[in-house]
Amino acid sequence: MTDWKAAFTTTFGAPASAVSARIWAEVYGDEYPAELDTYSFVTRTDLRRIAAEAHLEPGGRLADIGCGRGGPGLWVAARTYATLTGIDIAATALASARRRAEAMDVEATDFRIGDFQDTGLEDASFDAVMSVDALLFAPDKRCACEEFARILAPGGRLLVTTWDFDGQPVNRPPQVADHRPLLEAAGFDVLAYEETPDWRARQRRTMELSLERLEELAAESGDDPSRLRASLEQTLRNQDLMTRRVLMIASRRV
Ligand SMILES: C[S@@+](CC[C@H](N)C(=O)[O-])C[C@H]1O[C@@H](n2cnc3c(N)ncnc32)[C@H](O)[C@@H]1O
Repeated sequence: MTDWKAAFTTTFGAPASAVSARIWAEVYGDEYPAELDTYSFVTRTDLRRIAAEAHLEPGGRLADIGCGRGGPGLWVAARTYATLTGIDIAATALASARRRAEAMDVEATDFRIGDFQDTGLEDASFDAVMSVDALLFAPDKRCACEEFARILAPGGRLLVTTWDFDGQPVNRPPQVADHRPLLEAAGFDVLAYEETPDWRARQRRTMELSLERLEELAAESGDDPSRLRASLEQTLRNQDLMTRRVLMIASRRV
């Protein structure tokens, strides 16, 4: 099994890929939030929906778990006037997120090392918790849902994009077929469990274009082209095991 902490620390230690950004812009068009340097399949529609459904008041407390370079959480915090705590396992991602917070002029932010299963955050200390395309890396989805519930105040909102699987992808932590039973058992009412528009065709196209531009990507990153090809082909096979990319919206039971 890959050491995800090491892998993401390396990924985020390098500048964001300009070749990938062009591919994502080609596939997602105006839906690609290019200015946020996302490392995910998040769209502007996802971000607007997360901001609206977070039900944050100005000064409300937002956490973004698996925040990466911070773009999605910072966008939602700027839009809702919330304070933001970003958690990630990769110190390089957090360094980049801090620079982005300054560049976006979002002041009340805190980016810290933590894990889905142990965020290091206090009980009931957030009004909303979000996570974009990161929960699939949590080694234990049940523990992660319990951690979301622990850090949310009663009535607080959970907003997560992730994938349901009907098989176990190679070299990935264990996946689940449906997150709703885990959320309900952890103390949430599931308010929405929506498949995000056109996700499968878009994801597949980004990987196909990445394979077509393999030499360009390898030259940019310094990766060995044959290793990169194997990794992209594995990602495509893993995508075939995904049954849906969901935006889940849940409320912490009072
Ligand atoms: C696909 S990236 C998404 C990043 C960001 N949310 C975005 O949309 O750009 C997945 C993120 O999850 C983080 N991650 C992986 N395993 C994690 C874990 N066990 N706990 C917390 N974060 C984790 C990675 O470091 C990475 O930043």
